[in-house]
Amino acid sequence: MISKSTIDKVFESSRVEEVIGDFVQLKKSGSNFKGLSPFSEERTPSFMVSPVKQIWKDFSSGKGGTAITFLMEHEHFTYPEAIKYLANKYNIEIEETEQSDEQKIESDEKESLFLVSEYANKFFQNTLKETDEGKSIGLSYFKERGFSEKIINTFQLGYCKDEWTSFTDQAIKDSYKIEFLEKSGLTIVKEDKKFDRFKGRVIFPILSMSGRVLGFGGRTLKSSKSTAKYLNSPESKIYYKSKILYGLYHAKQEIAKQDNCFLVEGYTDVMRMYEKGIHNVVSSSGTALSSDQIRLINRLTNNITVVFDGDSAGINAAFRGIDIILEQGMNVKICNLPEGEDPDSFAKDKNFDELSSYFSENSKDFITYKASLLIEGSKNDPIKKAETIRDMVTSISKISDQIKKEIYIKECSSIMDISEDVLYSTLAQISKQINSSQKPYSKPNDSFTVVKNTNKKKSVNVLYELEKKIIEILILYGDKTENFEDLLLKENEAGELVLEPVVKTTKVFEKIYMDLQEDEMEFSNDDFKNIYYIIIENLNKGSNITVDMFSNKVPVNIELEITNILMGEEKYSLHDWQRNNIFPKDKSKSIAQLVNDTILNLRCFLIDQKVNEFKNKTIDSIDNKSILDEVLNYSNLKMLLSRKLKRVI
Ligand code: CTP
Ligand code: MN
Repeated sequence: MISKSTIDKVFESSRVEEVIGDFVQLKKSGSNFKGLSPFSEERTPSFMVSPVKQIWKDFSSGKGGTAITFLMEHEHFTYPEAIKYLANKYNIEIEETEQSDEQKIESDEKESLFLVSEYANKFFQNTLKETDEGKSIGLSYFKERGFSEKIINTFQLGYCKDEWTSFTDQAIKDSYKIEFLEKSGLTIVKEDKKFDRFKGRVIFPILSMSGRVLGFGGRTLKSSKSTAKYLNSPESKIYYKSKILYGLYHAKQEIAKQDNCFLVEGYTDVMRMYEKGIHNVVSSSGTALSSDQIRLINRLTNNITVVFDGDSAGINAAFRGIDIILEQGMNVKICNLPEGEDPDSFAKDKNFDELSSYFSENSKDFITYKASLLIEGSKNDPIKKAETIRDMVTSISKISDQIKKEIYIKECSSIMDISEDVLYSTLAQISKQINSSQKPYSKPNDSFTVVKNTNKKKSVNVLYELEKKIIEILILYGDKTENFEDLLLKENEAGELVLEPVVKTTKVFEKIYMDLQEDEMEFSNDDFKNIYYIIIENLNKGSNITVDMFSNKVPVNIELEITNILMGEEKYSLHDWQRNNIFPKDKSKSIAQLVNDTILNLRCFLIDQKVNEFKNKTIDSIDNKSILDEVLNYSNLKMLLSRKLKRVI
């Protein structure tokens, strides 16, 4: 592990404008830098870097963050990779924290596996291109299939001679230990005999997202039925087949840029599409699609187009994949190929334009796809039709986004000609089943129900927005001193209760802190809660709020929210609001009003929630009287708050 002090040094030395300047041409613009977004094709710059705040924001894609986030987004580095890159750029020596003996053995083993795989990769490529057997058998096979020299080099294809130990012998001669040759699966050891796993096969190296060799696929050139067509590396400390996608290293940049990823079945499918200019393509390599694989894609885009072989096995595989993709909150389209074709054979005699237009014309939304396939065989068969509908609703139940869910229910209702109500109750039924059959990895934000029009659905968002607003106010105006007008409940001379205005002058963050404490209010969102205390602590010390106060402490999406807030002001200068005579709404309102308004709204909301809680309780509770009193109390409080709100705004 990289030590904390190295990470701190990296943070201290890195300048966001310098880091980004290596990738994007930046021009000074006031106190900021501007440039063309590297995440989309644009002509007018909407990419901003703030040297003062040490953050960046891309207004065309909505991305933003620190120097580290930029490297993670643009180069698709992991966090440690980004730290290492910066350490290298700023000549900072990387200090690793002490590892336990077990950790050492583990990381030594991994490193040895990486080394032997890298060696084998070079060896196989060399065999393909420099040896007689390689050229006459391996290379000529690829050429016959129509793969160019260029694509062979890009994908680092190789060949292993049809001899028992040509590779193993050379590796041992070059001082590689048999232990790691065996653990990587490159050599099969049986008693005192050793032989090459990939004997007589052409080799497809499988690379990690950052380009390291993890394992291999080898295709036999014999047509005998007794040998498997493809043989792959066995799982090892570096090769987990469910966590790898073939082609991802070459595709990652383009997947992010196109905001879509084509998913195909085979090695040659990836290579063929890549050769034709479609670079955003990866393959699951014959294994059943796993959620880890989808997560890899999810880091780059929200959209997947599945292009599986046009035979029934391919269609079935695509079917199973859909639900896994939906579960991860991604959008999935399916593109059918003509029967008997796979992407490789289909693309072989077509050019980029022909392929692109085929994919865009034939990619169907998953609902339409399921409907079109299933409906064929079930037109006049009510039982089949019912099954089909249930199947579609099962897929819909995997989607966690409520709005998307509703849209798909509507779509399904119109395609299948069945009422939305029936679909909603089926959905509720299915979700119930899913919830009761244990879900070990359920996400925390999956907690809302799926029945139509529940209040809960709405309330989740309101609370989130209100809490976010408070954070926003704290970040932007926390250290400002304002005059707060509050209304206190007092008895007047006639003995009536009236609201009397009182003005208090305090700092914004103190006001918010006191108000929330008074109500014993805690943030419901853990990340906001975290941020809240960090902000209060820093404002109390008199420090300015910066994004790196939160880095590593909150998830990336929340870091982005903070960047958005901090960059909010830059946005106005970017679009030149003044010249156009448009003033952003929130700014024309006084800060004190904004604070009061937000806190009162939050209070009202929490009271509503309490009242609802009590309402639900009454059904099976005996002590109705005391509950009724409580509700009444809360309702009075609510009325009071509403009056305050009206006065204040
Ligand atoms: N596969 C495998 N083991 C097998 C068969 C297939 O691992 N015995 C994987 C390979 O990754 C292969 C993918 O499944 O690329 C798809 O299989 P298939 O469609 O049979 O192969 P193609 O990719 O079409 O290979 P080719 O065009 O070379 O026949
Ligand atoms: Mn094929």
